Amino acid sequence: MSTPTRPDLHRIVAEIAAEMAAETDRGVVADYIPQLAGVRPDQFGLAVATADGQLIAAGDTGVPFSIQSVSKVFTLALALGRHGNAVWERVGREPSGDPFNSIVQLEHERGRPRNPFINAGAIAVTDAILSHYAPKEALGEILRFIRFLAGDDDVAIDPAVARSEKQSGFRNVALANFMRSYGIVTGQPDKVLGVYFHHCAIAMSVRQLAMAGRFLAFDGRLAPDGRRAVSARMARQINALMLTCGHYDGSGDFAFRVGLPGKSGVGGGILAVAPGRASIGCWSPGLNTIGNSQLASRALERLARRTGWSVFAAR
Ligand code: DON
Repeated sequence: MSTPTRPDLHRIVAEIAAEMAAETDRGVVADYIPQLAGVRPDQFGLAVATADGQLIAAGDTGVPFSIQSVSKVFTLALALGRHGNAVWERVGREPSGDPFNSIVQLEHERGRPRNPFINAGAIAVTDAILSHYAPKEALGEILRFIRFLAGDDDVAIDPAVARSEKQSGFRNVALANFMRSYGIVTGQPDKVLGVYFHHCAIAMSVRQLAMAGRFLAFDGRLAPDGRRAVSARMARQINALMLTCGHYDGSGDFAFRVGLPGKSGVGGGILAVAPGRASIGCWSPGLNTIGNSQLASRALERLARRTGWSVFAAR
């Protein structure tokens, strides 16, 4: 029997970064959060944290960017760790097929968001975390958890982005109050939103993001035989949700093209997971019409194709 050849990751990652640098159709930078509107669209970074402990990266690999909705993966893991299955009383596990900030399903479904990755669902998850902590402590806990996962104490919140979103987040204010009226959000909506806006405003580089996602690639551990962050079962469940819901109404297309669990954010970042093999951070600020990074999606499609990584592969 022939052994599968190991992909030459250094070459593949460098080639993809060079290809993306030459792209002219880069999507549009999010501007509904004014502080994000000024981010330069010509940036791109890709980092791959592998099972054997390497971190292979190319492009703008050390530039911190606003992780936005990618933070929802970490808050979900934290909430599940604290509350276990009780989290699922507040939020579902189904793709929404609607935009990330949609309010339409909420009334039909009595204020219970479809999944933890749309804004409403993430706000409900933040509320669950807050039932254990005061807002400042909750934020500290979220940040500590991400720093532990990334093995890097430099991960920080960008206060200007948090302020900017607080001033312009009228849709999220509506979602939080609507869920409060159904008792899905139990705390004060303004306090819950304060924590939500701040965790969305966490800034990380693709290197830090790839490192922070390792627990999803290695069954809940920071390396195949490393420290445990969450149970294997929880890591697998989060991956399942990333595959089905991580790109909002673009989740089906991302699964089709890339074949890996992934979570996007309007800052242009995507965290993708090749179980057993690698955690991948990718970033380019320009978004497609659904709100997912145009070039990061394209780059991940090429990475998956060239490495052969897919959750649907026979081996
Ligand atoms: O609440 C918001 O709208 C942003 N803080 C996060 C949205 C987001 O990243 C959606 N991702 N594609």
